[in-house]
Amino acid sequence: MASWVLFPRLHLAEIEDQSWCPSWLREHTHRALARMWQTSNSKNGSPAAQACDLLIHGLGGLDKAAEFTFVDSCAGAGGPTPLLETIMNTRLTSNGYKPVDFVLTDLWPDVKAWEKIAKQSEYISYFEEPIDATKPRRLARQGTKECRIFNLCFHHFTDEAAEKVLASAVQSTDAFMIFEMTHRTIPSLLNTTIVILSVFFTTLYDFYWSPIHLIFTYLIPLAPIFYAVDGYVSCTRGRTAEETWALLHRQPGLDLSEWELKSGEQTALVPFGKLYWYLGVKKSVSK
Ligand SMILES: C[S@@+](CC[C@H](N)C(=O)[O-])C[C@H]1O[C@@H](n2cnc3c(N)ncnc32)[C@H](O)[C@@H]1O
Repeated sequence: MASWVLFPRLHLAEIEDQSWCPSWLREHTHRALARMWQTSNSKNGSPAAQACDLLIHGLGGLDKAAEFTFVDSCAGAGGPTPLLETIMNTRLTSNGYKPVDFVLTDLWPDVKAWEKIAKQSEYISYFEEPIDATKPRRLARQGTKECRIFNLCFHHFTDEAAEKVLASAVQSTDAFMIFEMTHRTIPSLLNTTIVILSVFFTTLYDFYWSPIHLIFTYLIPLAPIFYAVDGYVSCTRGRTAEETWALLHRQPGLDLSEWELKSGEQTALVPFGKLYWYLGVKKSVSK
C-alpha cells in the first residue's frame, strides 16, 4: 500500500544545490548516502541489492538486463552503483550472460571517489567533465540499450528541469529508473531523522583523519545542521508517481505510446527507510 502523503509538494532550496556550498560538505553527504545504499538490516538485502532486483525485474528479467548499459546520471560519490554492478554482473555471468557496463556522471563530478570505484571494476567508467542531467546525451556503449538511473536526485529538479530530464530519457534511452528515499510521508520523515542523527557516528568512522570534518561536526555542528536542513527540505520535494508522470504527460508532442510507466515502494531499511521507485521502459524491451 502506498504511504500516505502528508502535504503538497514544495520546492524549497537545498544547500547542496547552491554553488557556494563547500565541497567538503557535499562530499560528507555523498559518502553517507553511499554507505546507506550498502547497509543491510533485513533479509531483503541492502537498498542497493533491492534496487538491483527492481531493475532486473522492471526490465523484464536477466536476459533483457543483459542488453543494457546503465548510466548513473547524478552519481554523487557513486551511490549504489558499485554494489549494483557487482550484484548485477554476478547474477548475469552466473546465468551465462555477459557482464554489463555502468557509467557514472554528475553535474559536480566526484572524480576522486569515482577513480577509486573504477579501479575496483572494469565494468564501471565515468565522465570527468560535468554532465547536466537536464541536457544529457546518449552514453550507452555501442550496440547496447541505455537505462538512465536517477538515484536520490530526482527531487533536486524543479518541475521545469524534471520535465527536461524525463523528456530526454524518453527521446534518447530505452529505459529509466528513479529511486528516492525522501518523500512527504511519515516513514521518510522518520528515516531522515535517523540519518541526521547517524552523522554523529559516521563522521568519526569516515573522517577521523580530517580536523575540518571533526570540528564542523562535534565542536561547531555545521555538518549535522546541514544534514537536517537538506534532509527535511528534500522530503518536502518528493514526488508521488502521479506527480512524476504528470510531468511527462503535459509535454506536447512527446510520444509515450511506446512506453510503459510503473512505480512502487518498499521498505529497504528497517524500520522506516522506504525506497520509492518510478520506472519507464520501452515496450519493445520486454518483447
Ligand atoms: C543527493 S545526491 C545523490 C548522490 C547519489 N546518486 C547517491 O544516491 O548517493 C544528488 C546528486 O545529484 C547531482 N545533481 C544535482 N543536479 C544535477 C544535474 N542537473 N545534473 C546532474 N547531476 C545533478 C548532485 O551533484 C548530487 O551528486
